[in-house]
Amino acid sequence: MNVTVRPAGRIRGTVHVPGDKSISHRAAIFNSIADGEAEIRGFLQGDDCLATVECMRALGADLLLDEAGTLRVRGVGFRGLKEPETVLDAQNSGTTMRLLTGLLAGQPFFSVLTGDESLRRRPMARVLQPLRAMGATCLARDQDYAPIGILGGGLFGCSYRTPVASAQVKSSLILAALYADSASTIIEPSVSRDHTERMLRAMGAHVMADGTTIHVSPAESLDAVDLRVPGDISAAAFWMVLAAAHPDAEITLPAVGINPTRTGVIEALRAMGAAIEVTEERNWGGEPVADITVRSAGLTGAEFGGQTVLSAMDEVPVLAVAAALAKGRTVIRDAEELRVKESDRIATVVAGLRRMGVEVEERPDGMVIEGAGRLQGTVLDSDADHRLAMAWAVAGLVAGGETVVAGSEAVDISYPEFWRELRALGADVVA
Ligand code: S3P
Repeated sequence: MNVTVRPAGRIRGTVHVPGDKSISHRAAIFNSIADGEAEIRGFLQGDDCLATVECMRALGADLLLDEAGTLRVRGVGFRGLKEPETVLDAQNSGTTMRLLTGLLAGQPFFSVLTGDESLRRRPMARVLQPLRAMGATCLARDQDYAPIGILGGGLFGCSYRTPVASAQVKSSLILAALYADSASTIIEPSVSRDHTERMLRAMGAHVMADGTTIHVSPAESLDAVDLRVPGDISAAAFWMVLAAAHPDAEITLPAVGINPTRTGVIEALRAMGAAIEVTEERNWGGEPVADITVRSAGLTGAEFGGQTVLSAMDEVPVLAVAAALAKGRTVIRDAEELRVKESDRIATVVAGLRRMGVEVEERPDGMVIEGAGRLQGTVLDSDADHRLAMAWAVAGLVAGGETVVAGSEAVDISYPEFWRELRALGADVVA
């Protein structure tokens, strides 16, 4: 579906962003294998998390989602999952597929996981290889791609150094390690998001982090935990960039998760000169939360890499839009993982910015953007990638002329209310 976005004159408002996607997936999966009942408020009702809910139901857990976004999970206990009768469908969700692969490696039964066209192109050997070393039988198309077949159980503890910093890989191995016969150690090249470690600790598991090393002890059981899911900083990022790059804007974002492994977008925007206020810091079930207000500021180009980019990986598409609107050059490096996301986000972002008249150099691990201070409205495709659909919408609001976002329905993956929120802010958006 096409959505037409016209430049907005003035933007003022408060946006309650949806619950964090990573935390929502984990809350559904971990509570399904816990003892007791959990109430998860603010569960993200995006297609990705709904795919996780369906998979956990197919594995025997009882999950009930109401319209207010509260998910009630009645766990089956640590060894209570049952063999699914049919193929599990992770749809578009890499988190669902990789985390469940680790979980299923620990189960003494057979299961098959598949996903949509995009997910079936994403690399899975990164989890299958270490899971095989732990004793699981894992098969995959062309050794690397879904459909994946798993015959789990009887796992050994492992000591494994992951070649990429990936929270999905780390979490997959942590889940398997809980079912192993002895302790495991997982070492990452740098620290990826740590929601799994925090939540499992709150549920009574022994998962200890020491820098980039995670120690996991086998578990006997997990305790269900009630949770309030913080707002997703990856969803907030679109409003942050819009407010920062627009000439007359102020947007407040209450209760956004500010876990330090996720705040690269704040760091990056501040380095570009953005005015961002972070107030009312508090803690929701082991996760830091705060209110964020962003006001218009003249942005300047900057250089990003390392930990900043790792903790802003999902925000690079919209940060690239900010960079195009800034004065001067922006260099984004160490972002090669973007090549294997829902789309090849280096290629798709570069192509879209060029269509808007921006001079961009594509690099294997990122891009160099010559900020021109303006963008030209045009027709842009989401490439069925939710984060691109939203980045192009933000670009359209600050561009000259009209922007058409084709494939606008992609936002349903992580932010079904996105277009409605944009209209509520006074933007001229026509579906
Ligand atoms: C996620 C981890 C990240 C991120 C993805 C969600 C997670 O990927 O890009 O959207 O929930 O664990 P990596 O596995 O590359 O860290």
